Amino acid sequence: MKVFVLNGPNLNLLGEREPDIYGERTLDDLEDMCRARGKDLGLEIDFRQSNYEGEIVDWLQDARNAAEGVILNAGALSHYSLAIHDAVVVARVPVIEVHISNVFAREEWRETSVISSVARGVIVGLGLEGYLLALDALAMILATGATGEEDS
Ligand code: DQA
Repeated sequence: MKVFVLNGPNLNLLGEREPDIYGERTLDDLEDMCRARGKDLGLEIDFRQSNYEGEIVDWLQDARNAAEGVILNAGALSHYSLAIHDAVVVARVPVIEVHISNVFAREEWRETSVISSVARGVIVGLGLEGYLLALDALAMILATGATGEEDS
């Protein structure tokens, strides 16, 4: 079973960018962590990062036919991209939104995500480990159909 792990703008600079907020580990470290957890869970990880909104929209559209689920950290786009909101709906597979930092403990504008209402679930503020929790959740959802709510 294939899972896309999609990362948005500026996440290529993990490790360099505001390490007090995002930590010292890099995007490559994160990819290794996701691959290792994916292996344990029997999930094939397709890990990507883009600084471009349209590319993330394209990938969410691709997920429709190419993935069983998506982990999505859209970075700042999470706060305003209605195109990504719509693409999450189009994806028609469970999408788990992840934020490394606790967006509720930062600037007020980070408290709004236009993606959360269409995500299957949201994991916030648990560092890079949040991606691993999201993979665990996705594996559970895919194995059991568990949703925490009725299937749409
Ligand atoms: C982020 C939080 C966003 O507000 C920010 O713009 C990011 C990263 C996070 O993972 O904590 O780029 O999505």
